[in-house]
Amino acid sequence: MRIDIITCLPSLLESFFAASILKRAQDKQLVTVQLHDLRAYAINKHRQVDDYAFGGGAGMVLMIEPIAKCIRALQEKQAYDEIIYMTPDGELFTQKQANSLSLKKNLIILCGHYKGVDDRVRQHFVTREISIGDYVLSGGELAAAVVADAVIRLIPGVLSDETSALTDSFQDNLLAPPVYTRPAEFEGMKVPEVLLSGHEANIEKWRSEQSLERTKKRRPDLLQY
Ligand code: ADE
Repeated sequence: MRIDIITCLPSLLESFFAASILKRAQDKQLVTVQLHDLRAYAINKHRQVDDYAFGGGAGMVLMIEPIAKCIRALQEKQAYDEIIYMTPDGELFTQKQANSLSLKKNLIILCGHYKGVDDRVRQHFVTREISIGDYVLSGGELAAAVVADAVIRLIPGVLSDETSALTDSFQDNLLAPPVYTRPAEFEGMKVPEVLLSGHEANIEKWRSEQSLERTKKRRPDLLQY
């Protein structure tokens, strides 16, 4: 998989993709993440990428020319399955969307900034608009990092334990069961007996029950469809 992220603030994302699981995924060549500084595609010597909104109002708007130039330069090298725009008025990001994006080959993620992008970008270039929640961030970079992280960890081979992504919360619309590690007892607080029993079927049954119990208590909305 290849993910190209277009942003005016690549430095915000550099360290994020250079660490931990995401770095390992790139080292193993399971994914390539490339950051593209929108300013490199600016149309004038002032490296301008935003301008005042037509009709007035506070806030700057990202211009269509640098974005179009950057997207077209990328499309000359490879075709893209989706051009995603991160925006608070997009479709709410869920595990289901992460699963579906993890099956794609090449993705572009465009980060908005200021008041957003010229709407013609959304109408003519963008194929999917994603929000990570009902709140407004100062830019799309953190949201792009969230989406890329959720997607990359689902690519087979990225997690060392292949099955662990399948048992995450939200897969099957259920929250994950509680987990414990050593010691089996800490200051009188004991790990549930069944987990120490070595009886796989009973452990599986306990985990399913706990998952359901947790979901009912914390996120009953997940059980409603
Ligand atoms: N950009 C600003 N806020 C955002 C949000 N909640 N989700 C996605 N992109 C955003």
